[in-house]
Amino acid sequence: MIVLGIETTCDETAAAVVARSKDGRGKILSNVVLSQVSEHAAFGGVVPEIAARAHVEALDFVIGRAMQEAGFGYDALDGVAAAAGPGLIGGVIVGLTTAKAIALVENKPLVAVNHLEAHALTARLTDATPFPYCLFLASGGHTQTVAVRGVGDYVRLGTTHDDAIGEAFDKTAKLLGLGYPGGPLVEQEAARGDAQRFALPRPMQHRKDADFSLSGLKTALRLEAEKIAPLSDQDVADLCASFQQAVVDVVFDRLHAGLRIFRTKYGAPSALVAAGGVAANQAIRNVLHRLASEQGIALVAPPLELCTDNGAMIAWAGAERLALGLTDALDVAPRARWPLDEIAAAQGKLKRTAAYK
Ligand code: KG4
Ligand code: ZN
Repeated sequence: MIVLGIETTCDETAAAVVARSKDGRGKILSNVVLSQVSEHAAFGGVVPEIAARAHVEALDFVIGRAMQEAGFGYDALDGVAAAAGPGLIGGVIVGLTTAKAIALVENKPLVAVNHLEAHALTARLTDATPFPYCLFLASGGHTQTVAVRGVGDYVRLGTTHDDAIGEAFDKTAKLLGLGYPGGPLVEQEAARGDAQRFALPRPMQHRKDADFSLSGLKTALRLEAEKIAPLSDQDVADLCASFQQAVVDVVFDRLHAGLRIFRTKYGAPSALVAAGGVAANQAIRNVLHRLASEQGIALVAPPLELCTDNGAMIAWAGAERLALGLTDALDVAPRARWPLDEIAAAQGKLKRTAAYK
């Protein structure tokens, strides 16, 4: 089956066409991502109103490109999927309304995809990872450890009490005057810094639950920076390296706890799966690798362009749902807030259409 996917929940305008074979294998036929980074950079973060307008301006072109690169007309599609949340509501409305218009005009099924579910299922597109697996989702807006037990069957094992990991990277970059988005810039600085120089805290370490907390780390970093201001280039690099090492240690400890809970509740996971923009960080990828190999499970870390927001993950999640006969009515509402575990509860109540084979 062939599905068009549309992503507009944050600052990427993206569309893609993905094929799913009967045996559940995925293939990306096109994947067009237009980043709005330059439009938000001057503000040091994503401005919702600018994002929504930029989506309106770019989306037709991006969808046209995705269809053209895939080499299909709309008539070849089996469904149209769009991220219906969670995210910045102005942008979500743009993508979902566009998907509804295409579905209506072309008489195709609509699938309203949860953006987090799309991150969660990407490992099945890239690696055909079997259920159940343990997902570590870390982006600018989310930090979650999730038991992925099936399509629509997600149990959140841990989450952050305050900042998301990507947000902590972005705030660190802002504090040190590095620019936006911060993650890649902090990583770059950290590469030439001394990770031992500053003794930063490892919040939540050794707790039985699998939750995260990043705001104390951010504050500790600010205090260290204020103590030695004005900062030299080496000070900035050392602060970045110390911060990144603290995050790496926190990720190891908190995921270790998450995997313990997973095993107790659901047995051994088939894999540890990384998703979200933070999984682009090499130090974080390394620690995930170490953790997975210690636990004797595979690490699935999709290629970087599929870790950050993209249309292919939305199209794929749409295809997975469509294969089970899960479609949405044309009046489905966009949602700013939409926790992953609400999907399982809703799924039981859904009226299924005929499932594709
Ligand atoms: O998944 P994503 O593209 O968008 C959402 O937030 O949904 O993730 C973006 C986040 C930003 O906070 C960015 O700073 C962070 O991922 N990020 C990184 C790196 N690349 C992106 N964080 C740490 N190291 C990186 N190399
Ligand atoms: Zn995302």
